[in-house]
Amino acid sequence: MYNFLLMAHSGWRYLALLALAVAVIKYVLGWLGNGGWGKLDRQIGVITTIVVDIQLLLGLILWAIGAGMGLVGANITRTVEHPVWMLIAIVVMHMGWSRTKKAADGAKARTAAITFIATGLLVAVGVARITGMM
Ligand code: HEM
Repeated sequence: MYNFLLMAHSGWRYLALLALAVAVIKYVLGWLGNGGWGKLDRQIGVITTIVVDIQLLLGLILWAIGAGMGLVGANITRTVEHPVWMLIAIVVMHMGWSRTKKAADGAKARTAAITFIATGLLVAVGVARITGMM
């Protein structure tokens, strides 16, 4: 069960990173362009937050099962530091997305761009730390 979930969580990262990359590109282009906001912008934000939330859910279940197996704490970087980076990233994403929804139309693209750049950087650090790239 743990190994299956680890594979699912590990594989889902590519979807999460892809969704975050698409969001960053779309919103930065919008911000640098006319700053406009359309249906596609809203859909990209909704899909990205859902994809990242599924990763959060898989991570939380993995962590809980790992805790039951006595794995949490055995490797601090993987079982404590990684979840902390990711939880911060996901809180930033939700706060920023909520601000984006409340922002005036002309400010939405900028708010969304800043939100997903910050989220993407935090997630990249969290992945780099766990995969030994950093
Ligand atoms: C966007 C968010 C996240 C991404 C991209 C991500 C990515 C990853 C990756 C790539 C691995 C390594 C898998 C492997 O070694 O094959 C991993 C492992 C793990 N992640 Fe995440 N993760 C995220 C969020 C979370 C969250 C929120 C939690 C917990 C609250 C979490 C808990 C774990 C745990 C417990 C492991 C396994 C550690 C081990 O068995 O050594 N992850 N994650």
